[in-house]
Amino acid sequence: KRHLLEAADLDRADATLVLDTAAQIDQALAGREVKKLPTLRGRTVVNLFYEDSTRTRISFELAAKRLSADVLNFSAKGSSVSKGESLKDTALTLEAMGSDAIVVRHSASGAPHRLATWVRGSVVNAGDGTHEHPTQALLDSYTIRHRLGRLEGVRVAVVGDVLHSRVARSNVRLLHTLGAEVTLVAPPTLLPVGVGSWPAEVSYDLDAVLPKADVVMMLRVQAERMNASYFPSAREYSRRYGLDARRMGALGDDAIVMHPGPMNRGMEIAAEVADSARSTIVEQVGNGVSVRMAVLYLLLGGAPS
Ligand code: CP
Repeated sequence: KRHLLEAADLDRADATLVLDTAAQIDQALAGREVKKLPTLRGRTVVNLFYEDSTRTRISFELAAKRLSADVLNFSAKGSSVSKGESLKDTALTLEAMGSDAIVVRHSASGAPHRLATWVRGSVVNAGDGTHEHPTQALLDSYTIRHRLGRLEGVRVAVVGDVLHSRVARSNVRLLHTLGAEVTLVAPPTLLPVGVGSWPAEVSYDLDAVLPKADVVMMLRVQAERMNASYFPSAREYSRRYGLDARRMGALGDDAIVMHPGPMNRGMEIAAEVADSARSTIVEQVGNGVSVRMAVLYLLLGGAPS
């Protein structure tokens, strides 16, 4: 495969290969003082970010550097995008300078797919609008498998602002591919039209779902995209759909709590839950580097073309 544009690009064997490769990379680098492999020496990876990011941009940069690739970080702010340069011309410019892979985040759903038709190198989707964020789903599956030892039959509750969440879309698809059982929990106004065709159950009742969940994945309330007609009050949202210490007490002994970040502490997740022993939030960030190394290695590995 040349690109990673959405979770559906990966069948079960592909996704398992990414997770196994990330685990091998973790093993190979464990205990090493210099956490670097020579695999992508001579290759160039461009991080092309039209939207803000902390975790994804930095972990892709670190992943590429740990594989010995050259890395260029492009931020739309401060570039010729402000003079009206298009995504296509920007990408062709970067490719003319020798990029082998473009890691792209864009506010427009489908932008990475368009990009993939214009460039010869690989394109990796680092989040496009409300559409998909496939490497987030891969690092989430990696974290679940690492913590619980399996994905087959694991019951995952994905809770909150599903409507605006590319993380939810990628996770539902990938977790289903890997044999997990997903339940989406949200108020009806924060579920997308057509959710009935997704490979997931739907519930409006968080308290009913929690005792049966092996994993609770809280989603960020995307306040910047909210409209008062479907998000009446933060306090009411938090009361019905926030994960606080009382609700966490309803979870089974081995259940874990996840969040892709950035979090709204006190809104969808209480600080004491985010900082608890059940929380894998910091672990997810660390796993993101290994999983993104695996993705870049599998897309670009081998001699320069
Ligand atoms: N989870 C995630 O995509 O975080 P960033 O927006 O900080 O990259």
